[in-house]
Amino acid sequence: MSGYGPECAELVRAARPGNYRLGMVLGSGLGQLADEIEDAVWVPYSKLSGFPVSSVSSHGSELVAGTLAGVPVVVLSGRAHYYEGGGADVMRTPVETLKALGCDTVLLTNAAGSLREDFAPGTPMLICDHINWSGLNPLIGEESDKRFLDMSAAYDPDLRARLRALAEEEKIPLGEGVYMWFSGPSFETPAEIRMAKALGADAVGMSTVPEVILARYLGLRVAAISTITNYGAGMQAHGLSHDETKSTALKAVDALKRLIRRFVKDLAND
Ligand code: HPA
Repeated sequence: MSGYGPECAELVRAARPGNYRLGMVLGSGLGQLADEIEDAVWVPYSKLSGFPVSSVSSHGSELVAGTLAGVPVVVLSGRAHYYEGGGADVMRTPVETLKALGCDTVLLTNAAGSLREDFAPGTPMLICDHINWSGLNPLIGEESDKRFLDMSAAYDPDLRARLRALAEEEKIPLGEGVYMWFSGPSFETPAEIRMAKALGADAVGMSTVPEVILARYLGLRVAAISTITNYGAGMQAHGLSHDETKSTALKAVDALKRLIRRFVKDLAND
């Protein structure tokens, strides 16, 4: 696997040197988390070779390097999705860049539909595992035996334990469950939602899974949090819309910001 990661990292490092350890990817409605980064340098994706510019409203297209709670972090404000046409490995260079900047851990965020009555819109859900039923994989075409990647503990158990404990301290109700990746961009049908439930999923969404695979391939530790923005198709009286995704994610962002700030501080104490 070789995208433009090292080259992009050099450019970012020249603009803002730092001992970066944590990279973050901000999903729908969570872009304002980037505004919390202090002493920040914002680099538009258009200046970074191999970075995809997202066409999704509510997604930014900037890499933000700076500090959060005093800790050097790199935030990818906005991601590209498979459904935008760039392939399953569309996030290869951004993930490589985090690694090349020195990050050993990534925190991925997204918006997701709930399959569980007890995970209401507005609830954050820690992802403990995923189902990739898409037939797609960002490692397709890789040639070394490294492609046979172990996914047994892809969502780092230690990071999950920390996030659970911090959420409890902050009195943030945090669900935990299995995320199932659908390519989108159309939302699922009610029959697909029933299938996902039967297969063992707790939430559905259109991102994150390829990034997790790429990050694990590069040896990064992964934590991921969904913001539940709606119930899955057929589970709520009204239909689904991207407007609802954005507005519900925005309402939940304050709790998530608090949790992430604590998480970053906690990591820095390692
Ligand atoms: N399905 C897929 N992706 C989503 C959903 C959903 O219900 N909500 C937010 N992102």
